[in-house]
Amino acid sequence: EKGTYPHYMLKEIDEQPAVIRKIIQAYQNEQGELEIDPAILKALQDADRLYIIAAGTSYHGGLIGKEYFEKIAGIPVEVHISSEFGYNMPLLSEKPIFMFLTQSGETADSRQVLVKIKKLGYPTITMTNVPGSTLSREADHTLLLHAGPEIAVASTKAYVAQVAVLMVTASVYALAQGKTLDYDAVKELGIVANAVQAIVDSKEEMEEIAKEFLATTRNAFFIGRNVDFYVSQEGALKLKEISYIQAEGFAGGELKHGTIALIEDGTPIIALATQKAVSLNIRGNVKEVVARGANPCIIAMEGHEEEGDRYVLPKVNELFAPLVAVIPLQLISYYAALHRDCDVDKPRNLAKSVTVE
Ligand code: F6R
Repeated sequence: EKGTYPHYMLKEIDEQPAVIRKIIQAYQNEQGELEIDPAILKALQDADRLYIIAAGTSYHGGLIGKEYFEKIAGIPVEVHISSEFGYNMPLLSEKPIFMFLTQSGETADSRQVLVKIKKLGYPTITMTNVPGSTLSREADHTLLLHAGPEIAVASTKAYVAQVAVLMVTASVYALAQGKTLDYDAVKELGIVANAVQAIVDSKEEMEEIAKEFLATTRNAFFIGRNVDFYVSQEGALKLKEISYIQAEGFAGGELKHGTIALIEDGTPIIALATQKAVSLNIRGNVKEVVARGANPCIIAMEGHEEEGDRYVLPKVNELFAPLVAVIPLQLISYYAALHRDCDVDKPRNLAKSVTVE
């Protein structure tokens, strides 16, 4: 059912505006307000710390979740890689709650943590795209992603759905605690859906960027600060898994502490600048690598773009920026893989759900 699409990945990238709209609908009550299952809200309210457990792209979604829950809702959050957490559990708070982020709901690394946590008797929530999946059945509660089946091995729309549902959950929690939010999440998500549409409608630009920066390179760096750093890590994973280019997502300020030694003439640096407060800092980091010969591709948010930026993202509320900033990175990876004759939907050595630990 790819229809006229050459690959599922491209189809799933294109579905993202509709996925965001579906999420708004699914989490809205008759009064048009956002809501989540009251039992989940209560469980979150009863906890003193949220532990997000996930692997791969879902882990990257979880990093944004930490930002949302801490900044919007005021709940302390730890995000852990499933395969590490399971065998090296940190000290837990007194009243922890666990949220498993898993597109498939079948990832063995995440499931083994859920099994251990259930034995300890702590409350659990699975955020998944697949109702009836193993982790959904086994956790106390489920939050659904409503992204529709994701077939391509490289996760795209599920990541966007995770970030959107995390935003919804954090916003609902904050409002229930009597906090005033300086944004209307329904309205902002609508603006985001339009922005994502505008980006997927300008695919030629991403194809150009892929050609110019990634056609022959053996490595690439993605940099950002704050949430842009988290999105950079996801951008790097996307590129690695489907184009086999060695890529790393780095905190802009951290490069100079060692990794900058890898910069050579022409090394591509894809820099995200969606956050006004650190826009100058990340631009400073770009200058540092350009001075060593790097080939910079700055993707900035409208409103604080500068001359020479390679792509300008349509303006959205900065908190929602990860939802739009990841889209060009998905498309750039897609075209890089295509140019390099890689099997986009079924990259070597990978399976859609990883059911071994
Ligand atoms: C990357 C990718 C993987 C998955 C990871 C977790 O594109 O698809 O990194 O994100 O294997 O899978 P789920 O979310 O199904 O637990």
